[in-house]
Amino acid sequence: MIDLSLDVVLVTGAARGIGAAVAEQVAAAGARVGLLDIDADGVRDEASHIGPAAAWAVCDITDEEQVATAVSALADQLGPATGLVNNAGRNAYADPVAMTTDEWNMVFDVDLKGAWLMARATLPAMKAAGRGSIVNIASMHAALTCPNMFPYAAAKSGLVGLTRSLALETGPHQIRVNAVSPGYIETALLAEYFDHEPPATRRQALDKHILGRLGTPGQVATVVTFLLSDAAAFVTGADWAVDGGVSARFA
Ligand SMILES: NC(=O)c1ccc[n+]([C@@H]2O[C@H](COP(=O)([O-])OP(=O)(O)OC[C@H]3O[C@@H](n4cnc5c(N)ncnc54)[C@H](O)[C@@H]3O)[C@@H](O)[C@H]2O)c1
Repeated sequence: MIDLSLDVVLVTGAARGIGAAVAEQVAAAGARVGLLDIDADGVRDEASHIGPAAAWAVCDITDEEQVATAVSALADQLGPATGLVNNAGRNAYADPVAMTTDEWNMVFDVDLKGAWLMARATLPAMKAAGRGSIVNIASMHAALTCPNMFPYAAAKSGLVGLTRSLALETGPHQIRVNAVSPGYIETALLAEYFDHEPPATRRQALDKHILGRLGTPGQVATVVTFLLSDAAAFVTGADWAVDGGVSARFA
């Protein structure tokens, strides 16, 4: 039984998909949960669906002032954060030659820099408490990738590197930092990916899965909730694949 009743957990990108599932499971485990998203209606509705254990803030994780304001406002409502789930992310479908530097920066701001900005804003409270857990939602693309998604793999690989670096810097304060790398998870983001690809892609994706099925947001959230908890007290600096076995398969 996972017990987060002593915890305040912030979840970015919590209006829908994996982030919403994480917020729900973390609250079910007893935590107070702060939901952050750029989608104001979505994050408010998801927080009200969770109930009194939840508070919410509209926040673009790429903007350091918005991050500082949201983290401070949620601390006032819930108490200082002891957990952080850097889940907000976006796909990228650029051509490496046609891509502009602005477009490059927009991908890396959301998929990499935002996680650091959120960690920077929450680590002082975790250090003061002498405990904390950060989970970065990376992707199987951090280890292996596919065509037409440039430069998503580079940003998500960077997020796994950030995970290792932060784990080393914060471990002496008993703060653990791990990554979770989902495979194909049924969300609006995955639907967007399939919309970019030929119709056969969904069938081909299913065929890559040892388990013969795509994942659900709840199946990712279960692993994230474990990593946030004392059940994972000796787990840090690691990247956890939640991909139905896709990354174990050569052919
Ligand atoms: N769905 C998959 O198959 C899959 C696979 C591997 C990794 N991931 C990763 O998991 C995470 C969640 O994916 P999902 O499928 O639930 O996505 P999603 O698109 O359904 O949800 C992402 C949420 O993040 C929010 N968001 C986007 N940019 C933001 C910003 N700048 N600031 C704050 N919030 C922002 C969106 O408004 C949205 O609510 C992402 O980091 C994604 O890269 C997803």
